[in-house]
Amino acid sequence: MKHFLHIVGARPNFMKIAPVMENLRSYEVRQTLIHTGQHYDARMSDVFFRELGLPVPDIYLDVRGGTHAEQTGRIMVALEKHFLTINPDWVIVAGDVNSTLAAALAAAKLTIPVAHIEAGLRSFDFSMPEEINRVATDRISTALFTHSEEADDNLIREGANPRCVFQVGNTMIDTLSKFQAEAASAFAKSNPYCDDTFYLVTVHRPSNVDRRESFLRLVDILNDVAEIHPVLFPVHPRTSSCMQSAKVPLSPKVRLVEPMGYLEFTGAMQACAGVITDSGGIQEESSWLGIPCVTLRPNTERNVTVRLGTNTLVCPDHPDAVDKVIQALNERLSEVPRIPGWDGCASSRIAQIMIENDLSIGDAYLPL
Ligand code: UD1
Repeated sequence: MKHFLHIVGARPNFMKIAPVMENLRSYEVRQTLIHTGQHYDARMSDVFFRELGLPVPDIYLDVRGGTHAEQTGRIMVALEKHFLTINPDWVIVAGDVNSTLAAALAAAKLTIPVAHIEAGLRSFDFSMPEEINRVATDRISTALFTHSEEADDNLIREGANPRCVFQVGNTMIDTLSKFQAEAASAFAKSNPYCDDTFYLVTVHRPSNVDRRESFLRLVDILNDVAEIHPVLFPVHPRTSSCMQSAKVPLSPKVRLVEPMGYLEFTGAMQACAGVITDSGGIQEESSWLGIPCVTLRPNTERNVTVRLGTNTLVCPDHPDAVDKVIQALNERLSEVPRIPGWDGCASSRIAQIMIENDLSIGDAYLPL
């Protein structure tokens, strides 16, 4: 019986792994779940387990905070011991957070094959830690599960073996489509704006919030947008601590709330007039829902959402950033976009491939 070891650590991992575990349950396999503890607040972690029906992790590492090297290193050391004891057939990771890279490195060094969900995304911006995590994780993975043709193209251009690249679709959309109706009613119960139109905001990228000058640029944008419609802003812990030290002058029309659970947040996304974000996953979710999205970054690793979806990039330090944001929020596609393969079935395709493939470590990149 094959034994799959899933690693999660940070908020965006949970909704990507949950449907894969669920689909693998219909096969005769063993599954183990390890939570690294990268995200540890109840609102950043526990609520997702509860709402998404993820099992309680078999192992919780409690590795929290620290610099990138400290966090990645401590997760690797802690995981290695468990990998040696569990000796799984595969380690399955998702996305681009530090826990993803740490798990892939620890597994690959023990010659345990790694399956990477959401492989092949590239912003080509190496000032972002996530880009380093993506490139490095893909390079040492054996099964590369992608959500779009452009991700396949990136991997093939880098020398990946097409036999190991599987365009399966988007597991985050599997979760979003499954919980869409439940999320809408969860938010309807708590909606502070009742039927009024509002914008939804999330920002947490170090490039946007870690320095006061960058944060002030964001504040200008949000304050101006809030003059059109009120803004609902669930605040990420990183943003919250930067906000406190930078004492940013936000308009009272920007309502700050604690990080929201999955259902409440994706319900808010369905109800709002537009999203302003620097998150990766929200670009995808809003595109699938057909909600205008402004991404406050100069680039994205999710170009498919700009090309086929509702996403517009605006660099926050552009002199006309406010106008560009307002214009993008007013843009509406005549119909909700349908991105190929984002159909709610990505995880069942992954499960089948994980059962049937005969790949071995090292297959994904052949000698040039
Ligand atoms: C991480 C990911 C980022 C992802 C984001 C989603 C990396 C490099 N970054 O960024 O790609 O978009 O998660 O949220 O992996 N903290 C808390 N409580 C928590 C979690 C974090 O207080 O539950 C604090 C940490 O102690 C730290 C700060 O927030 O001081 C940042 O956390 P960290 O996990 O290092 O990075 P994120 O900014 O959350």
